[in-house]
Amino acid sequence: MSTLHVVDHPLIQHKLSIMRNKKTGSKDFRELLNEIAMLMGYELTRDLPLEDITIETPICKTKAKTISGKKLAVVPILRAGLGMVDGLLRLVPVAKCGHIGLYRDPETHKPVEYYCKLPPDIEERIVILVDPMLATGGSACDALTMLKKHGCNNIRFMALVGAPEGVAKVQAEHPDVDIYVAAMDECLNENAYIVPGLGDAGDRIFGTK
Ligand code: PRP
Ligand code: URA
Repeated sequence: MSTLHVVDHPLIQHKLSIMRNKKTGSKDFRELLNEIAMLMGYELTRDLPLEDITIETPICKTKAKTISGKKLAVVPILRAGLGMVDGLLRLVPVAKCGHIGLYRDPETHKPVEYYCKLPPDIEERIVILVDPMLATGGSACDALTMLKKHGCNNIRFMALVGAPEGVAKVQAEHPDVDIYVAAMDECLNENAYIVPGLGDAGDRIFGTK
């Protein structure tokens, strides 16, 4: 069973409360989403392996730590996942970026695939799959299956808000993938929206309806 990490640092909780408020406009919503992604990224990368290298300071030669081994890739689920990319890339500027396009059918709430473009060496990388909303879990599960078909075997999933239903589905279908959320909400409503949630993340980021 994968681990659910609730990254509930006070700064994250404060920023998320502003995002939840329906009066918050797209500009602030986007900025806060990227800030939270960066703060969560700090926690998500906590276990990256280090190795010693030798460097020369202005004073002397010394051993210093550097991140070793696998490189990272950030993969947003379009559209709303795009809102978390810049925050993560500020933390890890050398990460490569892939894109998976999925939208939820408004009637069935099931994800429909429309795009997939990944770095050619994606299977050698630690992949951070990002999407602010983990509702039914259908989109996250389909995106994880797509990544695995491309050979990825070291994947972490980062969302802003999770619903119990979505977490259970990802844990059941992808027990190897750790999940990071800023908050766990109560449930889904009749339209499969997260309650209390923050509404439609893509619409709030891009100002669409
Ligand atoms: C939203 C959200 C997730 C998905 C979550 O995307 O960004 O991708 O729904 O729901 P699920 O867990 O029930 O699959 P949406 O389909 O609205 O597309 P958009 O990002 O383009 O607005
Ligand atoms: N997608 C969203 O953007 N918000 C929800 O609450 C559920 C799915």
